[in-house]
Amino acid sequence: MINKITIAIDGFSSTGKSTLAKQLAQQLGYIYVDTGAMYRAVAFFAMQNQYISIDSFNKVELVNHLKNISLEFKFNNELGFAEMYLNGQNVEKEIRTIEVSAYVSKVAEVSEVRSKLVEQQQEMGKNKGIVMDGRDIGTVVFPDAELKIFMTASAATRAQRRFDELVQKGDAVTYEEVLKNVEERDYIDTHRKDSPLVMAEDAVEIDNSHLSREEQFQVVLDLVNAIIATN
Ligand code: DC
Repeated sequence: MINKITIAIDGFSSTGKSTLAKQLAQQLGYIYVDTGAMYRAVAFFAMQNQYISIDSFNKVELVNHLKNISLEFKFNNELGFAEMYLNGQNVEKEIRTIEVSAYVSKVAEVSEVRSKLVEQQQEMGKNKGIVMDGRDIGTVVFPDAELKIFMTASAATRAQRRFDELVQKGDAVTYEEVLKNVEERDYIDTHRKDSPLVMAEDAVEIDNSHLSREEQFQVVLDLVNAIIATN
């Protein structure tokens, strides 16, 4: 019998982590978990309750109310992937707005938020057969993952991808706004005290600025197959 493995995919925002992770999970019959969606849902909760706004962030209130946050992924058969539910409500659309993107890094800096989510992520992956993407999966959530991928691409390439996605969804944003958001998130994600975005020593780095989705998928699938064959 082939043993199931754990695949950790980390990297900067808009490097196509979730696209690759979804493709892998589908091919391997594994569970896919988008941990960014969990941080986004907490940021949305903070916004809804006015704990965070453009000029203020009441961390204490957010931490005090963390126990009132229930996060769940529910598989959508039509879409072929799981959607994020916050306290029983589907928030898949709400968590992808530029507003949530602007607040999420600040919320993800809070240690109490991180420990709550990391615990839930470890529980979801305890039976392996999982592809999880985020910023700290190979370093903190699953330091023993059999395969760790670290994805990078230039900020301009990533901003252009994100801008195209938002425009397609009908969001009125400018490329400059998106680029600024990408650069700000990179800064906060790599400089925060708790679990900053760093590449795990044993991760494989993939710069996909000049790789097609198919090429990238094939490179990673070959790595997976090599590991499974020797596992
Ligand atoms: O992957 P994403 O852009 O949807 O992530 C949203 C934010 O959440 C991002 O700014 C960093 C944070 N995040 C994190 O700190 N740790 C994770 N495991 C996943 C996301």
